[in-house]
Amino acid sequence: MTDTQTTTADLVVAQIFHVFRERGQRHYGESVSEQEHALQTAEFARQYSEPDALVLSCLLHDYGHMLHDLGENIAEQGVDARHEELGAWLLKDWFPEEILQPIRQHVASKRYLCRRNPQYHAGLSPSSQRSLQLQGGPMSDEEAIAFEALPFFDQCVRLRLYDDMGKVPQMPTATIESYEPLIRRFLKPDATLATPDSEPAAHRTTA
Ligand SMILES: [Fe+2]
Ligand SMILES: [Fe+2]
Repeated sequence: MTDTQTTTADLVVAQIFHVFRERGQRHYGESVSEQEHALQTAEFARQYSEPDALVLSCLLHDYGHMLHDLGENIAEQGVDARHEELGAWLLKDWFPEEILQPIRQHVASKRYLCRRNPQYHAGLSPSSQRSLQLQGGPMSDEEAIAFEALPFFDQCVRLRLYDDMGKVPQMPTATIESYEPLIRRFLKPDATLATPDSEPAAHRTTA
C-alpha cells in the first residue's frame, strides 16, 4: 500500500467517524438516535454471525439518512428523502458493490418483505409503517420476482431484518471507533475523496 492510499484511507475513516459523531445524534421518529440505530443494526448482524461485509453494510445502511438536510421526522411531514440511494451514492467511491447493494436496497427490501410475509408489516415500527406508504407500499408480485433476481438479494433482505431490530432504547453496543479495522478492510484500493459532479435523485423520497 502506498502513502497516498494510506492517507485516503485515513481520511475516509475520519469522515465516517465525523458523520456519526456530528450527524448521528438526530432521531428520525424512532426511540433511538441515528448513531444508536446504526450501531445496533451492525451489532445484531454480528450476534447472528453474519459475514463481515454484511455487518459493514448494516453499520452504514442509513449513512444517507445522517447526511440529508431535510431535518428530523421527515416521514411525518410526508417527505421521502430517498436516503438509501443517497447513502449508496455517497459511499460508492469507497466501498465495493457487495457493501453498497444492501444499503441501496434496504427500503425496497421492506417493500419486498411486506409482499412476501404478511406478518412482517405488523411487526414494523409505527415510523416504518408510515414511511412505507411514502415509499410505494408493498411490492407487486412482479416487483418481488424482479427483486429476488438482484445481485446480493439475500444480503439485502437480511440487512432489512437487522435494521428493523435496531431500535432498542439504551441497548449497549460497540463504538463506531471499534469498526475502524472493518472499514479499512473493505475500502477499495482506489478509493477517492473526489466529489462527483451530479447527485442521484435523492431528496425525493424514507426509513
Ligand atoms: Fe435503518
Ligand atoms: Fe433506512
